[in-house]
Amino acid sequence: MKEAEGAVGYGKVILIGEHAVVYGRHAIAAPAPMGVRARAEDSKDGTELIIPRWGVEQRLGPGTKHSGALLQSLELILKRLELADRPLRIRVDASVPRAGGLGGSAALAVAVIRALDAHCALGLTDREVCAHAYECERLAHGMPSGIDNTVATYGRPLLYRRGEPPLIEPLHVAKPLPMVIGLSGVERLTARTVARVREAWQRDKSRHERIFDEIDALAMQGVAVLEAWDLQQLGQLMNACQCQLQALRVSSCELDEMIEIARANGAVGAKLTGGGDGGAMIALCPDDPGNVVRALQQANYQAMEASIG
Ligand code: MEV
Repeated sequence: MKEAEGAVGYGKVILIGEHAVVYGRHAIAAPAPMGVRARAEDSKDGTELIIPRWGVEQRLGPGTKHSGALLQSLELILKRLELADRPLRIRVDASVPRAGGLGGSAALAVAVIRALDAHCALGLTDREVCAHAYECERLAHGMPSGIDNTVATYGRPLLYRRGEPPLIEPLHVAKPLPMVIGLSGVERLTARTVARVREAWQRDKSRHERIFDEIDALAMQGVAVLEAWDLQQLGQLMNACQCQLQALRVSSCELDEMIEIARANGAVGAKLTGGGDGGAMIALCPDDPGNVVRALQQANYQAMEASIG
């Protein structure tokens, strides 16, 4: 996404580390070649949020309690930016799917905050943009790690670990990674899968802590492997991460099927990305990403080539 086209929030893929990152482990994420652009303008008739591709055209009513996550999030942003009394129209162009595991909600929050910043000359720093977007994520799913809003803000590959302050270590990727993104066609709110993992963790903490530690070790190995651009090794780490995510029961029949198809058609690694239980998968395809895309499409999944990093 080009900054010149409007205020940008980046979508993301998590290469290694989803879910474990909520529990203080490391994760590696990178911007997806899809995201959200937003523009704000003054309006005469109240504040409006328009996202044509997500079928959203909603108005903030004064004194109304809003139930939808999008309006609640917008309301929070306006309040935090002290713009609640200024009628504004916010138009959004989203190329990232909603509830698709690719960081759509964080990308939206970042794009809207940046659009308001540009229109109202607020002079926000990236760190402030990221902090406001984190609060939107908290509203949307209770206990986010902060990785989605961080990638949505900075738009670069990074190693992340939550904390006060979080670890945000930019990663050097020599060349873009030849990936395929496959969409399961099943929308799934991250809030739900994160809550499910939480319940399971509460039932059996030691088993889950062990899984999170395994994922953490994979992410740490991933840093060196990524910086050396060793795609075979990276693929193996992604596959090992998928096994752990299956053990956490956040994969799904569709995701498992897509991952099988990708591996059978030349991917050296494939896994779900994001919250899982639907949403998206990623496949690392050094030789012929087009072959994997075609195979997924033949099985009626939406798939696209994506240069990551
Ligand atoms: C969602 O993109 C990634 C999760 O680890 C949740 C989070 O980190 O907030 C599932």
